[in-house]
Amino acid sequence: MPPTPEPMNDRSTPLALLMSRRSGRPRDMVEPAPDAEELTAILTAATRVPDHGKIAPWRFVVIPRDRRDAFAAMLHAAYAEERPNAGRLEGKAIDDFAQQAPLLIAVLHRPDPSRSIPLKEQEWSAAAAAMTLEHAVHASGYVSGWLTGWAAYSKSVTRALGEEGDTIIGFFFIGSPGKTLIERPRPELDEVVSTW
Ligand SMILES: Cc1cc2nc3c(=O)[nH]c(=O)nc-3n(C[C@H](O)[C@H](O)[C@H](O)COP(=O)(O)O)c2cc1C
Repeated sequence: MPPTPEPMNDRSTPLALLMSRRSGRPRDMVEPAPDAEELTAILTAATRVPDHGKIAPWRFVVIPRDRRDAFAAMLHAAYAEERPNAGRLEGKAIDDFAQQAPLLIAVLHRPDPSRSIPLKEQEWSAAAAAMTLEHAVHASGYVSGWLTGWAAYSKSVTRALGEEGDTIIGFFFIGSPGKTLIERPRPELDEVVSTW
């Protein structure tokens, strides 16, 4: 008989997979990360989401390891432009942010305002793509962490990664956990579910 999986690592059934996903801390992530073939599968899964009007109002920008120095430089330039009075400590935080985890994907929301589909619905589709990305990473045996922070709200950073009109849904840091993942409390179902 195969050993009983620890519940939080149980990927043995589709439902167990959904119920065992949790974030990793990007700063603790180590190699290995998904290879090119695995990444293609993860991104393919992430684009299979509800999308009213078939707009595909999302974009995935992969920022590989060898582009992190350039990514950090871009963040520094954006920060200097938008917060010219920032101190050196914040500069280090930017470097740490840019360099953590083996793989980084920025997920962008790209709405099409010319279409009749409410913009909110287009944004929800982008959030669905982001969440599906996280599940696909977990299904592939890796861990992810969804961070925003000032960079996600920076106009310069958004311009550098995407197009006019985009917003950054988040930065998805991906790799393997370098430390044991800590489970966090989840809401009791009766606090969030009711019967009408
Ligand atoms: C839109 C969004 C932005 C987030 N930004 C941050 C962030 O900047 N920093 C952070 O520590 N956690 C952030 N989180 C929370 C983590 O991604 C994660 O959900 C949480 O740490 C653990 O939950 P999980 O284990 O269910 O993924 C964000 C979550 C969402 C949905």
